[in-house]
Amino acid sequence: RRNIAVMTSGGDAPGMNANVRAVVRAAIFRGCKAFAIMEGYEGLVRGGPDYIKEMTWHDVRGYLSEGGTNIGTARCKEFRERPGRLLGCKHLIEAGIDALIVCGGDGSLTGADLFRAEWPSLIQELKDNGDITAQQYDTYKHLNICGTVGSIDNDMATTDATIGAYSSLDRICKAIDYIDATANSHSRAFVVEVMGRHCGWLALMAGIATSSDYILIPEKPSSSKGWQDQMCTIVGKHRAEGKRKTIVIVAEGAITSDLIPITANEVKDVLVERLGLDTRVTTLGHVQRGGTAVAYDRMLATLQGVEAVKAVLEVTPDTPSPLIAIEENKIVRKPLVEAVKITKSVAAAIESKDFERAMSLRDSEFVE
Ligand code: F6P
Repeated sequence: RRNIAVMTSGGDAPGMNANVRAVVRAAIFRGCKAFAIMEGYEGLVRGGPDYIKEMTWHDVRGYLSEGGTNIGTARCKEFRERPGRLLGCKHLIEAGIDALIVCGGDGSLTGADLFRAEWPSLIQELKDNGDITAQQYDTYKHLNICGTVGSIDNDMATTDATIGAYSSLDRICKAIDYIDATANSHSRAFVVEVMGRHCGWLALMAGIATSSDYILIPEKPSSSKGWQDQMCTIVGKHRAEGKRKTIVIVAEGAITSDLIPITANEVKDVLVERLGLDTRVTTLGHVQRGGTAVAYDRMLATLQGVEAVKAVLEVTPDTPSPLIAIEENKIVRKPLVEAVKITKSVAAAIESKDFERAMSLRDSEFVE
């Protein structure tokens, strides 16, 4: 019997509530107590009953279809520093929590992995300071932690999909369908900026699903002249063939091969100046993140939550902390440490302009 806590962290994503519901109910079903850490890592740093709350079966009623995250989330600066993590460690032990499930994106799960790695020294420091008893030290020596991947960006290595990505993609496609109608009416061009941080998945998939004219993503940059020439050739050809509308999708993290950000306004200026197109910019913003989850995300979140509870009950001090992933349509456990390592390597490869490596790492399983 364990006391299992769940938290959501980083940017909210549709399906996070479904994940919390699944964890709470699967934990109770297995005879454990379930807790919610409110406001992400902020709740761990603050501690106490306002931030670490026991959850009943009924507390999560209705969560399956609700967007956002009802237990709150935050991007917590304090948890990035050791003193913040030390407080988090103390508060978990005080609340008697012996397993933690974190639902978040790459940043949040990197934080989870760091917390896991540091746990032995944190708990030792608490013991040395007299903040916890020797008995507490023995009971909580190992942090039983597990990640479920919630983010609209779909930017975590070793999983095919993150909770929320397909809902966001659906929202983007619907918005572009709306834009299509007005673009077609006025024979206009639209530059649509989509989220995704340093990952181009949302832009790429939305571009394919809406048959957009051109897509700019961070993983496949070219020189400034390169993308401008290519875009103008393609758009010009489509127009010459009689197409009345033009849609260019720009990932918010799009860059040139010199790592210079490409903005939607810059793309607009090129379309206006070189092709003479009447062009508007639409930044979809947080509309992409809100609203209810599509059926796929509800299922993914539920399956991941159930598996996360199983995993924290099975993990021993000798098995690596897992991340619950979906791979070729199967829910699987991956080592959290590996997933974080690969995700970081992608960012490093982009920073060092090794774009081919970045692309191949996004698909790969293990870091050499
Ligand atoms: O990580 C999710 C995400 O929506 C990114 O796509 C985006 O860059 C960022 O969060 C926006 O963050 P905020 O909501 O803090 O403005």
